[in-house]
Amino acid sequence: MSNSQLAVVILAAGQGTRMRSSLPKVLHPLAGMPLIGHVLDTAAQLNPAHIIAVVRHDRERVAAAILEHLPSAMIVDQDEVPGTGRAVELAVLALPAEFMGHVLVLSGDVPLLDESAARELLAAHTREGNALTLLSTIVSDPSGLGRILRSETGGFVGIVEQKDATPEQLAINETNAGVYVFERDALARALTRISTNNAQQEKYLTDAASEILAEGGRIDAVAIADHWLVAGVNDRAQLSAAASELNSRIIRSWQMAGVTIQDPATTWIDKNAQLAEDVTLLPGSQILGATVVESGAIIGPDTTLISCEVGADARVRRTDAELSVIGAGAVVGPFSYLRPGTILGTNGKIGAYVETKNAQIGEGSKVPHLSYVGDATIGENTNIGAGTIVANYDGVKKHHTTVGSHVRVGSKNVLVAPVTIADGSYTGAGTVVRKDVPSGSLAVNVAPQRNLEGWVAQNRPNTETARAAEKNGD
Ligand code: UD1
Ligand code: CA
Repeated sequence: MSNSQLAVVILAAGQGTRMRSSLPKVLHPLAGMPLIGHVLDTAAQLNPAHIIAVVRHDRERVAAAILEHLPSAMIVDQDEVPGTGRAVELAVLALPAEFMGHVLVLSGDVPLLDESAARELLAAHTREGNALTLLSTIVSDPSGLGRILRSETGGFVGIVEQKDATPEQLAINETNAGVYVFERDALARALTRISTNNAQQEKYLTDAASEILAEGGRIDAVAIADHWLVAGVNDRAQLSAAASELNSRIIRSWQMAGVTIQDPATTWIDKNAQLAEDVTLLPGSQILGATVVESGAIIGPDTTLISCEVGADARVRRTDAELSVIGAGAVVGPFSYLRPGTILGTNGKIGAYVETKNAQIGEGSKVPHLSYVGDATIGENTNIGAGTIVANYDGVKKHHTTVGSHVRVGSKNVLVAPVTIADGSYTGAGTVVRKDVPSGSLAVNVAPQRNLEGWVAQNRPNTETARAAEKNGD
């Protein structure tokens, strides 16, 4: 079938009671996007004429998330009649009357179904000229799922839900995956005939199958070998199982693409992250969001990168970074915290116990130890002394600090924003920089030191300190 003959309906109206969550089930995150995002991506890859998502529970939030992920999706509201059958019925009514194609039904809570599995299902449907083709899977524990009923000769007979099944039917381990493609008219006719007369008093989409059979339509249930592709997420245990399976698959595909991943068990990579050949991930690396890592970079151990860019050959260890750019050959960590807007230049350094935010640190510049740098621009080949703090916040407003190139800021300075330290200048240790420092100068403002000789003997007699001084003859 051509794309113009395909509509995809995504079911997302259910409450997801078994998640026991204030967050709607289809919005729970998996590999860096909501469950429904995975399903929308698969739908979009098929290039159908229509993508319709059916919503009801927490309607505004779910609809907003769907449209944020895929602005071209059409939102249809389910009414007070419950059940997957009713959801699809309303979606089909929303299709243009002239649409005469096929309707692929996907569940918002079956996130791992990929484009190729969906295409195989569509191809089988067309090849066989079916009115309905659905995916089934054989599982060792079918509890909770609809069971596929077959005749003695193996032909599809129907689907019975767990709550309506007889003990013999409960023993069947071929289950309904919740993924179907229907010929539109056969579906529309069947849906008018299904009722809520069942254990859950819902309109079951699964009942459409027996209606189609009754009017002589052809149906095939195609068993899918890779059961993970159709794994449903109904509770938090299934959510973590799906997440870890998807993560293993993502890790394997990056390994095949030339990435060294030392410890797959403690490494997490989101679906949209990008890794170049010869990247190395050490144990405890979380490569999240839209992070991009260039060739030769070594990440970890124990590092979280959320939507960061890491340049070639950079070294990032024991670091937490978000929306930051780390230049080629730069060194970050250990114990560094890069908040959004950090841009570290080529061969730059952000060292131990340093926090940065909205800070451009130029090529070859270093913030090596125990610092906070926020709302600042630092030029090239500048060194910021240990323990230096940029005081960017006056209690009401944030202000900007500029440090030029080839500057040497002494240890334990406070740079009180707004302030500028010009190219090629120094500040002494402990300086509180409140005024601009002109190019080529040394800024100092620590009071001259006085030594009160004999103070220890007078004021701290009979202490270890006094005895140590006495030994030196003082
Ligand atoms: C459904 C199938 C079951 C199948 C299983 C596979 C039915 C009646 N049962 O059961 O045969 O084995 O999927 O995963 O279809 N939804 C709506 N509107 C509703 C109810 C649900 O849009 O009124 C949506 C949900 O948000 C969810 C999807 O439909 O995304 C499936 O609903 P769920 O309640 O999880 O169905 P299952 O009990 O898993
Ligand atoms: Ca489900």
